[in-house]
Amino acid sequence: MKKILIMNGPNLNLLGEREPNIYGSETLNSINDMLDEKAREMGFEPIFFQSNSEGGLIDRLHESRLDCAGVILNAGAYTHYSYAIRDAISAIRIPVVEVHLSNVNSRDDFRKNSVIAPVCRGTIAGFGSYSYVLALYALDNILGGCHD
Ligand code: DQA
Repeated sequence: MKKILIMNGPNLNLLGEREPNIYGSETLNSINDMLDEKAREMGFEPIFFQSNSEGGLIDRLHESRLDCAGVILNAGAYTHYSYAIRDAISAIRIPVVEVHLSNVNSRDDFRKNSVIAPVCRGTIAGFGSYSYVLALYALDNILGGCHD
């Protein structure tokens, strides 16, 4: 089974209680449980990782090049200014799909810019937890289906 990394950045551990009007009422654990089932149906073995620190995210991205076929990444606010995460994505070369729960283009101006978007395969935003499901479909498509 192809392993994929489903990775969340800062403050996403507080999903469910954090600004539910923007991010919804589902917790990260409940989203990950739903993704675990869907990913396995597609023949992926998902690995879940969350960190509030830039270095933690970068270290796990580096590791993913050795054990994963692709990455789904919600980098949280780092999306908008972390050149270090951008460089890590460029360095690893496996496909990374950028995900956001909220429609970042309809919010504060600073959220309209993603410094990681140019080095990701594509971006999915604005569909709540379904953004991650769409990213799974995207990875399935990129990696050619049937991951047994
Ligand atoms: C987010 C959008 C970011 O702007 C914000 O900093 C987050 C969550 C989203 O999923 O909508 O932490 O990545």
